[in-house]
Amino acid sequence: MSDAANEAGGEKHYVCDDHDLWADEMTFFEVDQRKVMVWRDLEEEVHAYNATCPHQDRDLEETGKRQCVCGPHDDTTTLTCSAHSWEFDLESGEGLNPTGTHLNEYETGIEDGQIYVVVPEGS
Ligand code: FES
Repeated sequence: MSDAANEAGGEKHYVCDDHDLWADEMTFFEVDQRKVMVWRDLEEEVHAYNATCPHQDRDLEETGKRQCVCGPHDDTTTLTCSAHSWEFDLESGEGLNPTGTHLNEYETGIEDGQIYVVVPEGS
């Protein structure tokens, strides 16, 4: 897949082959000089977010935990930044604690067996 402009003015960037990202798998990629966090939910939908915590810009590859820092629980859709325990819903990017925050989300898609992320120009 070649990079191509999309309707929103961003660029499609290949990140990995479709079969390389399993359900409930999260991984990180460098895309256009920024780190992107890509997660596939249990319904096979692919989500992508800027891998920077909106609180104090920590790298979520280092601080993002898939379970609450207070202990293991069953909610696998919550990402907790261990720096100061902010929590985010991975399906929407919405802040859970505190509310009113949001991970910076990117459009994703799958073409010809390849997953791409659309990174807006100048963001
Ligand atoms: S930097 Fe992530 S919670 Fe503070």
